[in-house]
Amino acid sequence: MSSTRSTMNPIHSSTNRLKLGVFGFNGGAAFTNHPDRFVPTWDNNVRIAQLADRLGMEAAVSASRWKPFASDGHYSGDLFETFAWAAAVAAVTERISVMSTVHLSVVHPVIAAKSAATIDLISSGRFGLNLVCGWYRAEMEMFGDPMYGHEDRYALAHEWVEVFDRLWHDPAGFDFTGRFYDLKGAIVQPRSPYRRPILLNAGGSERGQDFAARDCDVAFIIPQDPRPEALKRQVDQYRDLARERYGKEIQVWMSSYVVQRDTMEQARAYVQDYVVTRGDREGVDAFLANNVGNAHTFPEGVLDQVRFAIAAGYGGYPILGPAEEITATLASLCDAGVDGLLLTWLDYEGGLATFGESVLPMLVREGLREPARVLG
Ligand SMILES: Cc1cc2nc3c(=O)[nH]c(=O)nc-3n(C[C@H](O)[C@H](O)[C@H](O)COP(=O)(O)O)c2cc1C
Repeated sequence: MSSTRSTMNPIHSSTNRLKLGVFGFNGGAAFTNHPDRFVPTWDNNVRIAQLADRLGMEAAVSASRWKPFASDGHYSGDLFETFAWAAAVAAVTERISVMSTVHLSVVHPVIAAKSAATIDLISSGRFGLNLVCGWYRAEMEMFGDPMYGHEDRYALAHEWVEVFDRLWHDPAGFDFTGRFYDLKGAIVQPRSPYRRPILLNAGGSERGQDFAARDCDVAFIIPQDPRPEALKRQVDQYRDLARERYGKEIQVWMSSYVVQRDTMEQARAYVQDYVVTRGDREGVDAFLANNVGNAHTFPEGVLDQVRFAIAAGYGGYPILGPAEEITATLASLCDAGVDGLLLTWLDYEGGLATFGESVLPMLVREGLREPARVLG
C-alpha cells in the first residue's frame, strides 16, 4: 500500500471558508458546579459525534488528560482515553475528521503510528492528532517522567514528528538515533494508504508556534487582544512565520466557547452564573497553578480574563448571544483570516443542536459554509 492516496479528511478537502469542529466532548470543557455541566458518557459522545457529522462539521477533537485537577476523583479527570475514543467515534461516523490529542513524551511514536494507521483504516483517512507537550507536572510524573523543560519538550516534539513521519511514509524498517529516541528496525504495519494524519498543535509560546509552523498542518492562535484588527495581525503573523521560516502553508484555527440564548443579556447572565456564581474555583485554581508556571502562553496581566475563559470553556474565545450575533462574530473571525474554530459548550448536546438549527443556516446564507450534504 502506498501512503499517497488523497485523503478523505475534510480538514484538507473542505471548501468551507470557515471550518468547524467540536472540541473536548470526550470529557467536558468547563469548570463549574452548574447542573448543566456536561458529563461524558459513551451514548452522548456517539450522539454528539453523529450530529456534528450530519451537520457537515469538519472535526471531532478529543482533549487529553491523565490526572484530574484539584483532587483525585475531581470530574476534570473524567476524559475518555483518546485513541480508544477516536477508534470508536471513527466507526460510528462517516465523513468528519476524528482526532486524538496525544501527550508526546508519554506516548511513543511507534505506538502512536500504529494506533493512527489502525484508526485511519477504520475511518478511511479521517484521523488526525492534536500534539501536546504536557505542562501538568503531576500528570507527567504518573509516568515516572520528570517533566522536561519548556525548550526540551518542543525539541522532543520535533523529533517525535520526525519519527512518526518516517514510520508513516517508509514501508521498510529503519534505524533512528536522536536525542530522545533510539530505534532499531522501526516499522508500522498494517499501513494506511492515506496521507499522513492531520497534525494540530496549540502551543501558545513562541517556541510552540515555531513547532506548529514547522511540523504541523493546523496551528491555533490564543488571542491576546480580541479586537478584529489585532486578531488579523496574529493570524497573519502565524501564516508569515510558516511561510518565511519553513516555506509552507498552515491553517490557523481558534478555540471558542459558545453560549447561545435568545438575547445577549441572557447569554451573558448564563455564562456569569456558571462561571462565577456556581463556578468551580478550586478546579480553576488548580488548573492555573499548574499551567501558568509551566506553559508560556499567557502574558502577565491577563490572568483574570484567562481565569474566566478557562472556567467557561478551555480558555476559548467567547462567542455569545442570539444566532444573529453569533453568526456576526463568526463572520468577523473569518474575515480576520481564521480558517477554523473548535467549539465547546457547557451543554454540548443541546448547544450543538441549537447551533445546527439556527446558526449553520445563517453561515450558509453569509457564504461562510456550504449546506451539509445528506449522509447516505
Ligand atoms: C485548543 C487547545 C486544545 C488543547 N488541548 C490540550 C489537551 O487536550 N491536553 C493538554 O495537556 N493540553 C492541551 N492544550 C495545551 C497546549 O497544547 C499547550 O501545551 C499549551 O497551550 C501551552 O503551550 P506553550 O507551552 O507553547 O505555552 C490545548 C490548548 C488549546 C489552545
